[in-house]
Order: sequence, then structure tokens, then C-alpha cells
Amino acid sequence: MKRMLIAGNWKMNKNNRETLDFISKLNDLLGDKKYNSGILICPPFSSIYTAGNAEKNNQINVGAQNCYFEPKGAFTGEISIDMIKESKCNYIIIGHSERRAIFNESDELINKKTHAILKSGLNPILCIGESLDERQTNKTEEILTHQITEGFKGISEDEVEKVVLAYEPVWAIGTGISATEEQIVETHNFIRNLLSSLYPNQFKNIIIQYGGSVNKANADSILKIENVNGALIGGAALIAEDFYQIIETAEKSL
Ligand code: 13P
Repeated sequence: MKRMLIAGNWKMNKNNRETLDFISKLNDLLGDKKYNSGILICPPFSSIYTAGNAEKNNQINVGAQNCYFEPKGAFTGEISIDMIKESKCNYIIIGHSERRAIFNESDELINKKTHAILKSGLNPILCIGESLDERQTNKTEEILTHQITEGFKGISEDEVEKVVLAYEPVWAIGTGISATEEQIVETHNFIRNLLSSLYPNQFKNIIIQYGGSVNKANADSILKIENVNGALIGGAALIAEDFYQIIETAEKSL
């Protein structure tokens, strides 16, 4: 069966009370059903402890949206992987396009974070994606190749299965305009093919998520694409009912 991970990136949304409200609603919707798809919510730092320790369906995983690679010290405003682990998180999103664009994160920094997360036993969700200008000037493959080879530098074949790759075209994030089915097929095939040259034994097992305006209406056509192993969802993951619908859609596509 193909691997599938449905993840919500809440970005800078939801306080502790709203986090608990969401979890309570999602618990009710999921009920006792056993899901083959992985389910993950990534609240802001201020709510990860609440989410991690909330009474909840044990299929709901909790993740963080960023981390620093050093274990501790004078890094004002940063948070370590051990601190995130203490909140019972098992995934950390890194290199989101908002962090690359607004906070100037480089591929080198993202690679350091990837190594540190793997060393601590958690799963990095490494985000990649081209801008509108890059797509329009036919640079998509060049950009993705660079982001993948730099982001995965030094990651061995033994540990690569723990890395989730999230392809999020920047122009599709928060715009309501998802990439077309054809664009997703083509780009995910390209990514899988690139991974096959880097990881000839493991490339088939690596989760490649699509992200960018995924919602309950378009999830079906996106998730059934062969090389799509789930979604990283922003806006639609803030509404428990919508997020649940997407989980059910993922499940049906398996
Ligand atoms: P939207 O689903 O709101 O487009 O956000 C996608 C995203 O950035 C997830 O990381």
C-alpha cells in the first residue's frame, strides 16, 4: 500500500483553547476507525505542549513548524529539538517557503536542521517549491534539484525513509489556486526520479506530499496521483471538519 500522510500546518493560528477545541472535534469525527493514512497537526509553538498532552485519538500526531539545530545555548527566540520532543511531537516542518522567503533560511541551514532532527529520532518534513517567476521561466526543475540535493546532503540511505518531502509551489500557497493535476503529476514524477538517483534502494518509500491550496473539494484528484503520498495543508487544516474530510479522501484513495 502506498504511504500517505495528511498534515495540517496551522502557521501562526490558534491559541491553546482553540487547539483543544480542534482536537476535541477531530477526535469525535475520527471515532474508533483505524486509519492507514498518517494524521498530523502542526500548531504554533505556544500550543504544541497542549496538543501533545491533550487527551486524543492516538492516531493524531503532533508536529512543530520549525526548530533550531543547536541543542541549547544563546540563541534568543529559537527552540531546540529536545524542547519540541518534550511536547510529544514526532515531526518538524523545516524550510517552509515562508521561512525561506521571510526569514531568509538557506538550504545550508535547512540541511543542518534535517540532520539534527534525524539524529534526535524525529521526522523532518522538508519543504521545497519554486516561485511563480521560476515556474514561468522554466526553472522549476533546476530549483527543485538544488533544494533537494542541498537539503538532503549527507543524509544516508538508511535514514532517508524518515524524511518527508513536501512539494509546495510557492504560487499555490494560500492563493486558492492549486497546481493543476497535470503539473502535480509531472513535478512529483520528476522529484521521484531525482530521488531514485540519490537513493536507489529507498526512493520508492519516501513520502512526497503536495501542498498549496489543498481543500476538501480538490483533495480527491490530488491524492490519487501515483507519486503523491499525502498533503501539507494550510487554510483547510484549520477547520476540523474540512481536515477530517481530507483524511477520509486520502483513506479512500489507498
Ligand atoms: P494553503 O493550504 O493555505 O495553501 O497552505 C499551504 C501551506 O503552506 C502548507 O504548508
